[in-house]
Amino acid sequence: MIIGSHILQHEKVSSTNTLAASLLKDSDPPEGTVITASYQETGRGQPGNSWESEPGKNLLMSVILYPVMVRPADQFIISTMVSLAVHELVAARTPAARIKWPNDIYVGDDKIAGILIENSIMGQTLGSCVAGIGLNVNQVHFRSGAPNPVSLKQVTGTTHSLRAITEELVSLLDRRYGMVVRGEGALLESEYHKALYRAGEWHRFSDSDGEFEGMIERVKPDGMLLVIRRDGSSREYAFREIDYIL
Ligand code: BTN
Repeated sequence: MIIGSHILQHEKVSSTNTLAASLLKDSDPPEGTVITASYQETGRGQPGNSWESEPGKNLLMSVILYPVMVRPADQFIISTMVSLAVHELVAARTPAARIKWPNDIYVGDDKIAGILIENSIMGQTLGSCVAGIGLNVNQVHFRSGAPNPVSLKQVTGTTHSLRAITEELVSLLDRRYGMVVRGEGALLESEYHKALYRAGEWHRFSDSDGEFEGMIERVKPDGMLLVIRRDGSSREYAFREIDYIL
């Protein structure tokens, strides 16, 4: 077991990712250290966004990894393996779970979990990685401007044990990280594609040129999204270069 060998549980922190980053700066935390919190004062989402979570209602977790076997060009594999672990947990409770590129977890058209990966590169490999996960578990009212939040409770109609969900996720993450360590990236990529939201279907998107109809072909190993258009042309996008029309 790598992930979960050390677990630090906090009541209140600024952000579990920020705490993990300061542990990395000031000490030498063992690989697989998991930090959880009941509440974050300044939970961070994707750059420019905050992460809303009522005290004690949801899973807030960061994991410290040293993926020295991963080259910087292949760092999307970390996003892939974390997305698959969270997806597996949600999919065991609802068949409508999907991974929305690059690493959101959706149920139908609603977002149930977000992932914030912060890597540091050391020469030819990843030196350290903080994988932050926010999974909405028992919260039923969302106040922030997030467009489409949903929780496990809203999806299943029942209250879930946060402790059981946390233990299950740690074990799923450990299994998926084992695949990265063993070089099973191709298998991870293929599973990621099977779970990919709106892949292989025509949908409306928008990019800097406006709205269009397109179909997600695949996600390249470097994390770029390949989308084809009705006229047969295809384009690749980095995060935030394309919006899904929901
Ligand atoms: C997103 O915007 O989709 C990413 C959200 C990531 C939220 C999690 S909650 C635990 C960890 N600590 C943070 O401050 N952010 C991540």
